[in-house]
Amino acid sequence: MPQPPAVLEAIALSRTVEDVREGPKSLLRNIDFRLEQGQVLAVIGPSGAGKSTLLRLLNRLDEPTSGQLLLQGKDFREIEPAQLRRRIGMVMQRAYLFPGTVAFNIRYGPAQHGVSLEHDQVEALLEHVGMSGYAERDTATLSGGEAQRISIARALANHPEVLLLDEPTSALDDTSKAGVERLLAMIVRERETTCVWVTHELAQTRRVADLVLSMRDGHAVALGPPAQVLDA
Ligand SMILES: Nc1ncnc2c1ncn2[C@@H]1O[C@H](COP(=O)(O)OP(=O)(O)OP(=O)(O)O)[C@@H](O)[C@H]1O
Ligand SMILES: [Mg+2]
Repeated sequence: MPQPPAVLEAIALSRTVEDVREGPKSLLRNIDFRLEQGQVLAVIGPSGAGKSTLLRLLNRLDEPTSGQLLLQGKDFREIEPAQLRRRIGMVMQRAYLFPGTVAFNIRYGPAQHGVSLEHDQVEALLEHVGMSGYAERDTATLSGGEAQRISIARALANHPEVLLLDEPTSALDDTSKAGVERLLAMIVRERETTCVWVTHELAQTRRVADLVLSMRDGHAVALGPPAQVLDA
């Protein structure tokens, strides 16, 4: 029987770039994974392993040079980039919020797609990330942890099917780190959001991941459940 399509699937995903001095350089080689709804894939590996390179392909900021990416069984290249970025949200290490109010930031994504969020919808998103009452705050006045919560709310405003997280807690102090990790774990659980979560913390990997992709030098060293990959 044919399998139903995965939410997100990578097949032999590779990316080679032309380096001015070194010639062709392989950044990513034959990465495969398959994620069902609500699964969290943790991507781990040393600095330079290709973790951010992989996320950039998953958000179509860059294109693979070979291999394939499928969202709900459909090739990425058949999905309009603007639509793809609505369906696949991204939260980075640092929150790059726009100057202006929190509400402006939350409304921005949906507005790009012709959706105008009501005051109550903005409030509900803020409440969801533990930031009730912050709608009219200037983003320049937020702490790192607060700003990260707003960037999570901004990503959720688009109702993404997949969330890409590039070390979302690593720039935060220990207290905000634990809170933001718990928030993300709760969101994934409640909304059954499929998630690709880059982290270099093994303890965090154990807490959040269903599957672990361990990378080095652009290739997969291991792919499997946390116990299998981390205790190998
Ligand atoms: N456009 C590019 N041209 C040449 N090399 C690149 C390019 N983009 C990334 N690289 C190289 O690819 C490798 C992987 O980089 P990447 O940023 O994906 O690593 P990472 O696993 O995210 O590391 P970190 O943990 O430090 O964030 C690095 O050696 C980087 O210098
Ligand atoms: Mg990186």
